[in-house]
Amino acid sequence: MTTVGCGIDIGGSGVKAALVDLETGEFIGERIRIETPKPATPDAVADVCRQLLEGLEVASDIPVGITFPAPVIHGVIPFMANLDDSWVGVNVIDLMEKHLGRKVVPLNDADAAGLAEVVYGAAKDVPGLVIVTTLGTGIGSALIMDGKLVPNSELGHLEIDGHDAETRASSGQKTLQDLSWKKWAKRLQKYYSHVEMLFSPDLFVVGGGVSKNHAKFMPLLDLKTKMVPAELRNTAGIVGAAWYAASWPCE
Ligand code: BGC
Repeated sequence: MTTVGCGIDIGGSGVKAALVDLETGEFIGERIRIETPKPATPDAVADVCRQLLEGLEVASDIPVGITFPAPVIHGVIPFMANLDDSWVGVNVIDLMEKHLGRKVVPLNDADAAGLAEVVYGAAKDVPGLVIVTTLGTGIGSALIMDGKLVPNSELGHLEIDGHDAETRASSGQKTLQDLSWKKWAKRLQKYYSHVEMLFSPDLFVVGGGVSKNHAKFMPLLDLKTKMVPAELRNTAGIVGAAWYAASWPCE
């Protein structure tokens, strides 16, 4: 495995990229960010990825991983909850190759965060089933069994009380509906109890921007499963993508 990788994290408000030291899981130099174009069509976002790679002067032999806020099934996006609908059915390996002139390795954003936690963070050396959830605009999930990722779980879209779970319990909804920590924690309680009942995990790792405020909501939750905040916070997507790309070299 090479010791340097590059990760690009495509989000609803910004597209972020950095070079990553794969031995430590830390950024090499600055992270750079460009606003997500509106509308966030595949071509417009791919062009932003090109600008980011140019900005970082990423050499052609450095593996590049790109995260998407959607499942990525053999390169293809089957549905897209929180970005432009025109992504549905797009093969993102072909799209990025066309715009970037190089192969890249795509993966789901929560899977990238989960991998980063397994390799460098809170899920390192944890046996059994770890469920990493990212609380943001949506709810992302990564299932990790004995250190191995089971990709493309979509536990943010569990239907609970007739609602798509992320439309009730994401941190985006907390902001949108101006919910107090206590009110939001009630929704999280329902969500995590349901996931716990279905999967009996050994550990929950909670990531996403709001996890820096974990002290405000985690103590309000009553679960059988141990729950810890993510360790990598907002670097997890980029770091996980870079690591994944370096572990699954482009042909
Ligand atoms: C998407 C997931 C994604 C999560 C976080 C959900 O709406 O379906 O694929 O991981 O949002 O971005």
